[in-house]
Amino acid sequence: MKDIVTIFVTDLEGTEHEIQAPTDMNLNLMEAMKANELSVKATCGGMAMCATCNIRVQSDHELPEMSEDEEAMLDEAFVLDIEGSRLSCQIPVSEKIDGLRVQLGELTGE
Ligand code: FES
Repeated sequence: MKDIVTIFVTDLEGTEHEIQAPTDMNLNLMEAMKANELSVKATCGGMAMCATCNIRVQSDHELPEMSEDEEAMLDEAFVLDIEGSRLSCQIPVSEKIDGLRVQLGELTGE
């Protein structure tokens, strides 16, 4: 089993960052990105209530289905229809996301 996964994150300036995250600490992707000093507002702290952790998934990893709360929040923030749109706080860091490529969404900006 893999203890550390690698994720590629493109920030709002278009710079790609390669980050590492442990799979055994119950982190979600938003927390992993913040821990790697990426600028993600994440106002609600991971409760699927703000959309300021929005991302676009650019690789074809199989991710957990969107919950109704996540879908409603993305819809309310007018980003639901953007391809690959997700809330990063709703994606657990696990082996399944090793090599994931994402782009920070416009709502993450400070
Ligand atoms: S941190 Fe608020 S919805 Fe993800």
